[in-house]
Amino acid sequence: MRTTLGFIGSGLIGSTLARLATAAGVDVVMSNSRGPETLGGLVAELGDRARAATTRDAARDADLVVVTVPLTAYPDLPVAALAGKTVIDTTNYYPQRDGRIAELDADALTSSELLQRRLSSSDVVKAVNNVFFHQLGMLARPSAAPDRSALPIAGDDDAAKHDVVRLLDTLGYDAVDTGTLATSWRSEPTTPVYVMPYAGTLPEGLGAAELQQWMATTGGVPVSAAQVKDLVAAAVRGPAGGSF
Ligand SMILES: NC(=O)c1ccc[n+]([C@@H]2O[C@H](COP(=O)([O-])OP(=O)(O)OC[C@H]3O[C@@H](n4cnc5c(N)ncnc54)[C@H](OP(=O)(O)O)[C@@H]3O)[C@@H](O)[C@H]2O)c1
Repeated sequence: MRTTLGFIGSGLIGSTLARLATAAGVDVVMSNSRGPETLGGLVAELGDRARAATTRDAARDADLVVVTVPLTAYPDLPVAALAGKTVIDTTNYYPQRDGRIAELDADALTSSELLQRRLSSSDVVKAVNNVFFHQLGMLARPSAAPDRSALPIAGDDDAAKHDVVRLLDTLGYDAVDTGTLATSWRSEPTTPVYVMPYAGTLPEGLGAAELQQWMATTGGVPVSAAQVKDLVAAAVRGPAGGSF
């Protein structure tokens, strides 16, 4: 796929996606809050297809941009540089981390609608928000593999969703179109398709630290497109936001 993928956020999810992308022959431009000079180690690991930039340049120089930051950082995004682009939104609302956001607490908006409102000249597609970074890296498979997993996507623009389907295919995943940004609550924290299906059955009796350790080491369980459809259909809207 001849695309340059920009990253605003180069943490657990950003770096995992960038590893999948560079392994698949996609060029990446990485950025974070502290500046490109802090990304030398990651870029060296990613190899010749990777470089670091400011958030503005990562957005400007990319065909497709992944926003993968804590939700609380959305006001800082380079709105003008992202104009006209498809933006993949991996963010989730965690009030313990992000603070309370009244419109989300009232279920008046989904977190991706909040981002879309901020990025009014971009096309936001929610994707890759419902799988833990370790399983995201472990479960990627070529398109013909029988144990290929699927991820839900949601967005308001069909062409942008098509961009994301193609990208996910390149990175090793099928995509299931679950609707618009307004219905993207169906893959938000606490819903049936969120994280746990890809992790598998939890061992019993784990404390918080052991659970985190298990999540960061277990290889995961493939989740098919049919399973994603069923899990998304079973979602019931509850209070917004997850908890750690
Ligand atoms: N971790 C997971 O498994 C997982 C799974 C699905 C979805 N998510 C969601 O995806 C998002 C990213 O999660 P993560 O775990 O990858 O987070 P993370 O490891 O904490 O990384 C966050 C990244 O965002 C950057 N950042 C923070 N504020 C920024 C700003 N104002 N401008 C530009 N970059 C900024 C950070 O840069 P600095 O380090 O320089 O501050 C860092 O590179 C979150 O919304 C999370 O809820 C996470």
